Amino acid sequence: MIVFKNVTKIFNGYLKAVDNLSFEIKSGEFVILIGKSGAGKTTVLRLINKEIDPTRGEIYYKNLKITYLSSGKRRELRRKIITVFQDFKLLNKKTVYENLSLPLEILGKSKREIEKEVLRVAEKFNLKEKLEQLAETLSGGEKQKVVLARGILYNPEVILADEPTGNLDPLNSLEIIETLKKLNNEGITIVLATHNREVVNQLKTRVITLENGRIIKDENPGSYTLI
Ligand SMILES: Nc1ncnc2c1ncn2[C@@H]1O[C@H](COP(=O)(O)OP(=O)(O)O)[C@@H](O)[C@H]1O
Ligand SMILES: [Mg+2]
Repeated sequence: MIVFKNVTKIFNGYLKAVDNLSFEIKSGEFVILIGKSGAGKTTVLRLINKEIDPTRGEIYYKNLKITYLSSGKRRELRRKIITVFQDFKLLNKKTVYENLSLPLEILGKSKREIEKEVLRVAEKFNLKEKLEQLAETLSGGEKQKVVLARGILYNPEVILADEPTGNLDPLNSLEIIETLKKLNNEGITIVLATHNREVVNQLKTRVITLENGRIIKDENPGSYTLI
């Protein structure tokens, strides 16, 4: 589904963030990216969702070459490949309902359709009681759930999660990971970058370990072996 062929990303003409990387992620997989800070995890995710272009190499999505894309095609791709970050990027002064309805308004859906869709994801993520609450008053775990729920409104094929539990306590982390697992069971491909040893060892899934922009290990199931 996602294929990297000898992909290199150099920043500022000399900083090799990703170094001749080749791998394949199959549809329906749950893949964890680990590696020390600066190993290249975020750069890999940004190359997948086409926030940035590679310096060399080719990237494919479902057999389509996406190495370089027009801005229209990029936008199209970002509805299929959604991204969840550690910082939540919610509209803080808006309610959960407003945060969830905005993407649907942008898609030009009717008020009734929007209400139906928002209720569907709110139910799924256990957020029904929170819909009228301002985003800034939510706990970290709740915010992350709203971010995920908002992404799911697009019916994505892939979720890229960049340290989504980075700001959460263990219990909230667990809930987010359980949610990702559930979405994976429904067929969504997940790529998760994380520092969290417990998360990695619990998930018992494929683990790609990066070091200096290269893959030093790719095991299924893998484990957290960084010191
Ligand atoms: N926009 C950028 N400009 C310059 N250097 C960058 C940029 N993004 C990332 N880097 C560098 O690329 C390397 C890999 O970064 P990153 O992918 O963020 O690593 P990780 O997510 O594993 O911590 C680091 O050395 C980082 O400083
Ligand atoms: Mg990072």
